Amino acid sequence: MPGIIFFRSDNIREVESFYVNKLGFKVWFKNRDCLILKNGNLLIGIQKGNSDDKGIITLLLNEPRAVDNLFHELKEFTVNEPRFSEDCNTYECYIRDPENRLIRVMSFLNKSSSYLTGEELLLTRRSIREFEDRDVPEEILWKIFELSRWAPTSKNSQSYYFVVIKRKEILAKLASLRGRSSSPIGKAPIAVAICSDPSKSKRYVQDACIAAYHFILACWIYGLGTCWIAAMDRDDVKELLNIPKNHYIATITPVGYPKYVPNPPLRKPVNEFVKILV
Ligand SMILES: Cc1cc2nc3c(=O)[nH]c(=O)nc-3n(C[C@H](O)[C@H](O)[C@H](O)COP(=O)(O)O)c2cc1C
Repeated sequence: MPGIIFFRSDNIREVESFYVNKLGFKVWFKNRDCLILKNGNLLIGIQKGNSDDKGIITLLLNEPRAVDNLFHELKEFTVNEPRFSEDCNTYECYIRDPENRLIRVMSFLNKSSSYLTGEELLLTRRSIREFEDRDVPEEILWKIFELSRWAPTSKNSQSYYFVVIKRKEILAKLASLRGRSSSPIGKAPIAVAICSDPSKSKRYVQDACIAAYHFILACWIYGLGTCWIAAMDRDDVKELLNIPKNHYIATITPVGYPKYVPNPPLRKPVNEFVKILV
């Protein structure tokens, strides 16, 4: 359910400058006596009046490293050093805005549900090639497969299927097949092959590729990194994974918690790849 938490302020412009310049909020609505700020799914309203500082604004960040980064950028506003909290399995610190409102900045360590907006999901997903030495919880993996079921397929044939690879020796073998290109598989706790069965659909290639990208996005919702590893549709891989020779392997992706999230590589501006037919 969308909504807005409102506070009162006697210096709306100073509050605006803090949230926009220091915390990356966007102005969603603004007039003389009212300001609504947006960051991801969070909307905060500021209305003209006697400043109040009740309540705690909680900002949810995608990974503990982001909490550390914000802590260092906003040192003069911070209340305490980031720390792990066992109560809810979070990593968090507190800061105060210029009118003394308390802001908790936190990251859940094992997210059981998502808090990324659709926009953030598409903008922040990156190919991850280095992983933490941490298992992927089974219940999260199954939630990801539940989301993956909603990938579109030709005539709703659902010709795709997933093979989960956990055995270290198989991961090491797959990692070695294509040198640097396939090496990320050897650094993750598990890998998943996304395949399809040509007897189920004429469009089995598209079905598997779309299901693979659905899976990749679903992983990111839960803070799990992946990387599309190409050219795995090979007989030796099929033999290793017990996949029939005539089936198709769209990709085998490593899956795990990212060691770090790389900066986004450059993308072309939209006017270079959108052609409007006149
Ligand atoms: C069809 C396809 C094949 C790819 N093959 C590989 C691969 O074999 N190894 C690898 O490390 N990354 C591979 N990638 C990941 C790309 O390098 C990556 O998507 C691209 O550099 C953009 O980075 P981003 O995903 O972080 O936005 C592949 C991606 C696609 C879509």
